[in-house]
Amino acid sequence: MKKARAFPIASIGIIGGGQLGRMLVRKAHQLGCHTTVLDPTPDSPAGQLAGRQIVAGFFDRRGIAEVVRTSDLSTFELEAIDAAYLCQLADEGHRILPDPRLLLTIQDKYLQKCRLSELGLPGAAYVEVEQPSAEAFAAFGYPLVQKARRGGYDGKGVVVLRSEKDFSRHLPVPSILERLVPIHKELAVLVARNPSGQTAVYPVCEMVFVGEANVLDMLVAPADLPTEQLIRAQELAVKCIAALGGTGVFGVEMFLTPEGELLINEISPRTHNSGHYTMEACMTDQFEQHLRAILDLPLGDTCQLMPAALVNLLGEPGHSGSPAVLGLDEVLALSGVSVHWYGKNNTAPYRKMGHVTVLDPDPARAREKAMQVKDILRIVSQT
Ligand SMILES: Nc1ncnc2c1ncn2[C@@H]1O[C@H](COP(=O)(O)OP(=O)(O)OP(=O)(O)O)[C@@H](O)[C@H]1O
Ligand SMILES: [Mg+2]
Repeated sequence: MKKARAFPIASIGIIGGGQLGRMLVRKAHQLGCHTTVLDPTPDSPAGQLAGRQIVAGFFDRRGIAEVVRTSDLSTFELEAIDAAYLCQLADEGHRILPDPRLLLTIQDKYLQKCRLSELGLPGAAYVEVEQPSAEAFAAFGYPLVQKARRGGYDGKGVVVLRSEKDFSRHLPVPSILERLVPIHKELAVLVARNPSGQTAVYPVCEMVFVGEANVLDMLVAPADLPTEQLIRAQELAVKCIAALGGTGVFGVEMFLTPEGELLINEISPRTHNSGHYTMEACMTDQFEQHLRAILDLPLGDTCQLMPAALVNLLGEPGHSGSPAVLGLDEVLALSGVSVHWYGKNNTAPYRKMGHVTVLDPDPARAREKAMQVKDILRIVSQT
């Protein structure tokens, strides 16, 4: 007997109204779901498209209770939320995926590193420092990477300190210190798992970073690596998410060392910026895949149909306020280009305002065109 599913298939609560939430809302509606988004900013990128937005902060328990209690199933698009309260709501029987207990571990970089080491997964050596001091840093040894235990994103909360002279730039918060890894390439692999245990893995992406703000600059998929290394990266990502017992889509960020060793940098318990290429380039994009996974539907095919390169559209330094885009017409005249605008009402220096995906049968040309797009498009302020 075929299973009947009444419309809507489910009402989905989404904590976080940013661009990831926005793209999730679009797919949720396509799949026949209703959506409620929680975000403190009225008219948030996801709230603009959702059935309903609850305007409340990510630690506002009244707001969180409302979204969770009025939805069949809740999920989140960022880590810095009240995971302890979500655990309580899950214990009361509300469906929240990924498991908020796993979020509780992941949102603290120290607990996350401990869990990954317990599971025998490879990563940079680390120590915890409750109160940063010159002595503790020197005892660990330079060069090192200091990471705030909580609240970091987009490279904020991470500093590279090469010698004792750099100690003045340290972050005065509870942290971990990590060995500075020699990086040949930074990779990200998306993995989806549903509660039935079905797993799907996407092609490996290569992330390229810019110096100053340490924000992702360009992303290429598939990564330009020998097949053997690509397979190893995918296997490691699948092993990691299976060991963590994750449900939903997860991004596994890794470093490939010059010796060919793979080290896990961190796990994102949500869809990931590095997976945006899947929207145009793969049979099933990461947002639909996340919904299929949390709804325990069969996972979609992750096959990549064409090589892709992606650039983020970051707010131009020196510009804040209502955004304007320069060069849109020129960029849209190129073939294989898709522009995504996140609907943020204000731009700020380096703020992620959108992204552009370029598809081309020739990966080198996709990359070239993406660099061209980066040169042409500018997000400035209107005044
Ligand atoms: N142990 C390390 N050795 C060398 N470089 C590192 C190390 N850890 C982090 N980095 C660099 O710093 C960047 C940011 O680190 P990380 O991903 O841990 O921080 P984040 O703020 O959570 O980042 P995001 O939100 O952008 O993923 C990495 O992408 C990498 O370029
Ligand atoms: Mg990271």
